[in-house]
Amino acid sequence: TRVSLIGAPTDIGAGVRGSSMGPEALRVANIVDALRARGVEVEDRGNLSGPSNPVLPPEDGYRHLEEVTQWNEAVHTAVHRELGRGRFPMLLGGDHSLALGSISAVARHCRERGKSLRILWLDAHADFNTRKITPSGNIHGMPVACLCGLGPDPLIRIGGHTPAIDPSWIRQIGIRSVDEGEKRLVHEMKLDVFDMRYIDEHGMRQTMDRALAGMDENTHLHVSFDVDFLDPEIAPGVGTTVRGGPNYREAQLCMEMIADTARLASLDVVELNPALDHRNRTANLAVDLIESLFGKSTLMRSE
Ligand code: ARG
Ligand code: MN
Ligand code: MN
Ligand code: MN
Repeated sequence: TRVSLIGAPTDIGAGVRGSSMGPEALRVANIVDALRARGVEVEDRGNLSGPSNPVLPPEDGYRHLEEVTQWNEAVHTAVHRELGRGRFPMLLGGDHSLALGSISAVARHCRERGKSLRILWLDAHADFNTRKITPSGNIHGMPVACLCGLGPDPLIRIGGHTPAIDPSWIRQIGIRSVDEGEKRLVHEMKLDVFDMRYIDEHGMRQTMDRALAGMDENTHLHVSFDVDFLDPEIAPGVGTTVRGGPNYREAQLCMEMIADTARLASLDVVELNPALDHRNRTANLAVDLIESLFGKSTLMRSE
């Protein structure tokens, strides 16, 4: 694998500020060396640039729509370019609204190459809000809906294909906070959600077996890793903590089972907020989990 790191230092889609410092915190946590130690060739493409955060209230249900659009166009272009070079784009966020630019680029690439796409959405939240039902106006609560074609024109058009993806391509894992209107929409759109209750009852092993089922050699696997997926006891450095998430071992197993498929071809690491962290421990944990995602295991694994 040849990985290209793409930093997107913005908190433009979030309500709490600070995820703009995420890319640097991951670099300080030695993400480059950790990947190289896995035998991965890594190039750090540095940071994208975009508008600063004007910290305005929502307008017509959206906070910072224009700025979110600009950032996502930059992310889309950068991610699509790396895929075209045969490389593995790793987006270092930044808030989760950026998954819009990233996943629309992956979907476009898959369309061009005749690949099928599977998206694992690791998150405490469904991020399936729309203008009408959002409790906050924060666009990081809307990227999945936008990718499925529900959202404002400038966002659903990124990448030139609306909708960018079909809801049946997504599996959401770790979900434990869904807003009232959002619940209805998630149900209507038949999103495949493995919520925390499912994980409690069936365990992470069966959850991942199911979420990863049905892929083949032609599948591009994308993981969108919102760090608030993790239990706040182990990952305090995020703006929207929700208690009752996966613990350290469950998170490791999740990543290891993804690695075992050998299909992972792109990744978002988003919502890491160093302003709320303690001594960079959440960034260090994220890097530790990313190592597992790239095949680090305790013992030699048989082929
Ligand atoms: N559901 C809430 C909202 O729409 C929180 C979303 C949090 N999203 C995230 N990517 N952390 O405001
Ligand atoms: Mn392409
Ligand atoms: Mn979240
Ligand atoms: Mn999210």
